[in-house]
Amino acid sequence: MYSFTFSFSDFLSTYWQKQPTVIKGGFSNFEDPISPDELAGLAMEPEVDSRYVARQGENWQVEQGPLTFDNLPEDHWSFMVQAANHWHPGAARLVSPFRQMPGWLFDDLMISYSTPGGGVGPHFDQYDVFIIQGSGKRRWRVGPRKDDYQECFRHPSLRQITGFEPIIDEVLEPGDILYIPAGFPHDGYALENAMSYSMGFRSPKQQELLSSFADFIIENELGDVHYENPDLPARAHYGELPAAESQGLISMMQNLMQDPVVMQQWLGEYLSLSRHNMDVISADPLWQGEELASLLMQGETLFKIGGLRAFYHQGNPQIVYIDGEQYPLPEGCESAAHWLCNQDSFSIQEVGALIHQPELLALLTKLVNMGYWHPAE
Ligand code: SIN
Ligand code: CO
Repeated sequence: MYSFTFSFSDFLSTYWQKQPTVIKGGFSNFEDPISPDELAGLAMEPEVDSRYVARQGENWQVEQGPLTFDNLPEDHWSFMVQAANHWHPGAARLVSPFRQMPGWLFDDLMISYSTPGGGVGPHFDQYDVFIIQGSGKRRWRVGPRKDDYQECFRHPSLRQITGFEPIIDEVLEPGDILYIPAGFPHDGYALENAMSYSMGFRSPKQQELLSSFADFIIENELGDVHYENPDLPARAHYGELPAAESQGLISMMQNLMQDPVVMQQWLGEYLSLSRHNMDVISADPLWQGEELASLLMQGETLFKIGGLRAFYHQGNPQIVYIDGEQYPLPEGCESAAHWLCNQDSFSIQEVGALIHQPELLALLTKLVNMGYWHPAE
């Protein structure tokens, strides 16, 4: 069990999206949830997103996964596995203390292994990140947020910057946490073989929201309404755009966004879709409803697969959104939204008498057969 040694509420009010900070001993007696060998094993898998970064003086080398680990230099290299929580249950457990953050903001847990001198160079990210130091030590420097950092490409696939004046310069030891808000430049290199865990939170951009909303409208054949003005007066200046007509067009767009049913469905689907592959394996053979019910009644727990995103809207637990799809819950089964979306697992303790609700059992069976929840291995 991983738990913080500090008050997360105090951290949020003082630092979240305000200032970078180092929380010394944020975890006490921290133990790596994954070994370097297991991490390397993940990086060799084609469906796992990984990369290798090495430097020799000013020469940088980058390889995208799947990686092989032949002919490695002695030091000055590291490799990282994106969304490691999707592939490794131990890594997924490290996410638990961060459940005090909104699930919809969480992106993934990236894990890196670095040899002495290894790191990705000075850069900044578009997301907020908590970097937890596992075994080994790593020196981190963080600079102030500014608009005028010069980007430079020492390698075509590394977006680095030329440099910055540090406001934080510390050596992280096991259990220390470095929080870096989006846009603050940083650079970390290992002093000895080191494991780092980057918990990434990604705030959507306006343009991403609008673009996803436009896709949703088109896919669902909504908004098939043309502008009309049956009271059109004759005009003297045909090249002028009258304010009322411009407003009429803008209102047509706004009207779509004012439909709460449309907006809830789009947001629920959009926010629940994972940006990274998941280890989804359909059940084989498929479960029958009665089999699943008796499994639960025997006391078995069903676990959500790592990285699965499941949400419901406040005040509307009738619909749950799982991995980009909406699933209406049968009438009277709204409490299921809580244990499906706010917990990493559930058992008969939560399901209770609803196990006898045939439509809910059919839905649970479907979700298990799709591979979204599974009994313990
Ligand atoms: C790393 O662990 O090497 C990269 C973390 C980061 O700077 O985003
Ligand atoms: Co970074």
